[in-house]
Amino acid sequence: MSQPLLTLDFLDTAPATAEHTPSGEVRISAATRTGRERKLYIESYGCQMNYSDSEIVSSILFEEGFDTTDDLANADLVLLNTCSIREKAEQTVRMRLKQINSHKKRKPGMLVGVLGCMAERLKSKFLEEEKIVDLVVGPDAYRDLPQLIHQVDGGQKAVNVLLSREETYADITPVRLNSNGITAFISIMRGCDNMCSFCVVPFTRGRERSRDAHSIVREAADLVAQGYKEVTLLGQNVDSYKWASADGAEHVNFAQLLERVALVSPALRVRFSTSHPKDITDEVLHTMARYDNICKYIHLPAQSGNTRVLELMNRTYDRPWYENRVTAIRQILGDDCAISTDMISGFCTETEEEHQDSLSLLDFAQYDMGYNFFYSERPGTLAARKLEDDIPLEVKKRRLQEIIDRQQLHSRARYARMVGKVHQVLVEGPSKRSAEHLSGRNSQNQVVIFPKGDFQKGDYVNVLATSTTGAALIGEAV
Ligand code: SAH
Ligand code: SF4
Ligand code: F3S
Repeated sequence: MSQPLLTLDFLDTAPATAEHTPSGEVRISAATRTGRERKLYIESYGCQMNYSDSEIVSSILFEEGFDTTDDLANADLVLLNTCSIREKAEQTVRMRLKQINSHKKRKPGMLVGVLGCMAERLKSKFLEEEKIVDLVVGPDAYRDLPQLIHQVDGGQKAVNVLLSREETYADITPVRLNSNGITAFISIMRGCDNMCSFCVVPFTRGRERSRDAHSIVREAADLVAQGYKEVTLLGQNVDSYKWASADGAEHVNFAQLLERVALVSPALRVRFSTSHPKDITDEVLHTMARYDNICKYIHLPAQSGNTRVLELMNRTYDRPWYENRVTAIRQILGDDCAISTDMISGFCTETEEEHQDSLSLLDFAQYDMGYNFFYSERPGTLAARKLEDDIPLEVKKRRLQEIIDRQQLHSRARYARMVGKVHQVLVEGPSKRSAEHLSGRNSQNQVVIFPKGDFQKGDYVNVLATSTTGAALIGEAV
């Protein structure tokens, strides 16, 4: 049923786990052809949670008589699963709606819906602001989609943006739209209770809740049975995963969940994202160390290297705490464990010296990868209400460039130190640059490219890295 996802702008070097850091990547539903009457076209923006939610939405609508399509012009229903994390993410969606409007003129019966975080943030205001939109549905209301679509079929506009304290869609088997048949996402929790002062997610995704551990393990086992080789456990803050059975007899924390998923099959690689520095425990790190199939890669967003700024951001850790977590990773998992970060430049009142602290944190942590942004004020957040967005745009951008440049040096160095070593690579498919080469990832999530020989997608291949482009390793099977 599921076919490879078509992605725009998808390079070999785009990390499979781009975390919750909108990479500018847009994901489009692949075509399912099961003879269903109506065609759903769904385009997803933002983070992996959204990509994963689109798979749940497709599953719900599949039951309602919709096949998915990758051809917007022929769709009966067009859904945009949107992101609000920065102003630019929202502008992108507004521009896309204008383009969709011209398709709708050619096909007047086409219904247009907005899902996800922007739907939740703007609610029915969306219908007033964007006349083309028929349907506005927030992230916890997807089960209501069939009913809402009937309402729209009947000539009305429809909105459901109720947030839930319980919804985890645990019982819905996602249509794997976003998958190459080898790697898949498993959503393990929803929402966020952290209230970082810059962040809109707690408002758009609601309260944090963890999904039934048994349903997660079952989903992983089903994926193995279907031939999948890698799962990424998803949540805004996976390390605060906490689930108890209804009778209270069973309690599962993140380290224990990770172990249960790792035990599903030694041939299944397990990744996870995102780790909040305040929550990642040594127990998680020791669990990672115990299982070869838990990938040695941790996305540990710092946001800033300065304690005063971290406090204003309401991150609830300071610089020494963050450094301690990095040191624990290096001690328990060794220098080869990859770490990545997100950094925000030009947060309210950030001084030049405080910006220097972010640069020095990059040097301290020696990140493999960084996802960096300049601060974008989001309406309704603590920072928007209490702090002045006082750093001029040129300064934000200049500081961001300095962060990017510094990180680039470290990324290159981290790739370079992997040359000369043998890596176990899970092959994801042909290299985008050469049909004679395959592309996959090592445990650290680095891209590895090598001559294809007799290997194929889904194989584990030991590859000796012989050189690096700075963003990928080049090697040969040994
Ligand atoms: N839950 C994750 C982050 C999710 S949002 C965590 O706590 O680490 C993804 C990233 O977007 C954040 O890490 C942050 O770096 C960035 N981001 C969030 N809000 C932003 C804003 N208002 N302006 C700029 N970047 C922002
Ligand atoms: Fe946003 Fe902070 Fe929650 Fe991450 S932990 S989603 S940055 S509020
Ligand atoms: Fe993800 Fe963007 Fe929402 S990053 S949680 S889609 S605001």
